[in-house]
Amino acid sequence: MNTRFLDACWGKQVDRTPVWLMRQAGRYLPEYMAVRSKCTFLELCKTPELAAQVTLQPVDILGVDAAILFSDILTPVEPMGMKLDFVPGPVFENPVRSMADVEKLRIPCMEQDVPYVLETLRILRRELAKKVPLIGFGGAPFTLACYMVEGKGSKDFAQIKRMMYTAPDVYAALMEKITTMSVEYLNAQIAAGAQVIQIFDTWGGILSPADYRRYVLPYSTRLISALNRIQTPVIHFVKGSGTMLDTVREAGGDVMGLDWHVSLAAARNSLGPAMAVQGNLDPTVLFGTQAIIEREVSRVLEENAGRPGFIFNLGHGILPTVPAENARFMVECVHRLSQS
Ligand code: CP3
Repeated sequence: MNTRFLDACWGKQVDRTPVWLMRQAGRYLPEYMAVRSKCTFLELCKTPELAAQVTLQPVDILGVDAAILFSDILTPVEPMGMKLDFVPGPVFENPVRSMADVEKLRIPCMEQDVPYVLETLRILRRELAKKVPLIGFGGAPFTLACYMVEGKGSKDFAQIKRMMYTAPDVYAALMEKITTMSVEYLNAQIAAGAQVIQIFDTWGGILSPADYRRYVLPYSTRLISALNRIQTPVIHFVKGSGTMLDTVREAGGDVMGLDWHVSLAAARNSLGPAMAVQGNLDPTVLFGTQAIIEREVSRVLEENAGRPGFIFNLGHGILPTVPAENARFMVECVHRLSQS
C-alpha cells in the first residue's frame, strides 16, 4: 500500500511528494468518455460498479497517489427534495428562495437515500487494498447553498447574496440544514471506507473576508468539528482563500487546499509548519509543453522547500480539454523532482 498521501496529510516525512488531481476522473480521459457515452452523468454516479471503474482509471493511467470517489458535491442534495439535472453544469428545477422552501427540505437517511455512494466506497476499498488511499468528499455548506439558491452556476451570485443580506433568518436556516446533512453524509462516507475527506468550497472566495467570517465560517467549522476525524484527515479547499488564510484556518481541518492565486511559499509561511497544505499548480499549465510543465512543477516544489505536510495538486479541477498525456507527465515530474 502506497501511504505517502496519508502520511503527508498527517504532516509526516515521505519518500516523494504525493500527488493527485482534483477532478482526476473525467472527460479529459478517453477511457472515461467510453464509459460515459453509454449513460448520463447521474446514472454513472448511481451505478456503483461503473462509478468505481471510473474512479480507478486515473490511478492506473496517471500513477497518482490517491483515488477520489466518483460522484458530485450535489448528489446528496437531490434526496433533500431538489430535482437535479446536469447539462453538463448542475441545474435545480426548484431553487430555494423562501423559509417555506427551506422547511420542505428533508435530511436524507444516507443508507436509504444514497446507498450507491456508500456501495461505491465499499467496492473501492476492496479494489484499492494494495494500491492507494481513498478520498471521500462533499461540498462545503456555502457552495451547496449557492447552487440550491441560484438553481445553477452564476457569475454574480446575486440571489444567494440577496438572501444573506435581506433574509438572514432564511439563509441561516438553510445553512443549518445543509450543515446537518453534510455531517451525516461525510460521516457515512467515513464509515463506508473513505480514508480522507476533502471539503470543496468552490465559491467561498466570492465573499469579502468579513462576510466569509460571518456567513460561512461558523457552518464550515461546525461541519469539520462534527466529523469522525480520529483516523481520517480533512482537507479544506476554499477556492479564492489566498487573502484570508488565517480566517479559513479557523474552520479547523488538517490540510489547507490552495488555489494558484496565492504563492505556496507565502501561504506556508503564514500558516506555519503545523498545517499541511495541498496545491497549487494553475490547471491551464497542463496545456503547456513538457518543458513548461516541468518548469512549473519544479517551481511549486521549490516554493514548498522540502517542508513535510505537502500534497501536490492543481489549484482547481483539471479541465476537460487537457491532453491526458500531459497530466501523466505532470505526475511523473512531481515524483521524479521530489525524490529524496
Ligand atoms: O475529482 C474527481 O474526479 C471526482 C469527481 C467529482 C466530480 N465533481 C465529477 C463531475 C468531484 C470531486 C466533483 C466536485 C464538484 N462538482 C465541485 C467542486 C469542485 C470544483 O470543481 O469546483 C463542483 C462545484 C461541482 C458541481 C458541478 N458538477 C459542476 C459545476 C459541473 C459541470 C462542470 C463542468 O466541468 O462542465 C459538474 C458535472 C461533473 N461533475 C462532471 C464530472 C466528471 C462532468 C459531467 C459529465 O461527464 O458530463
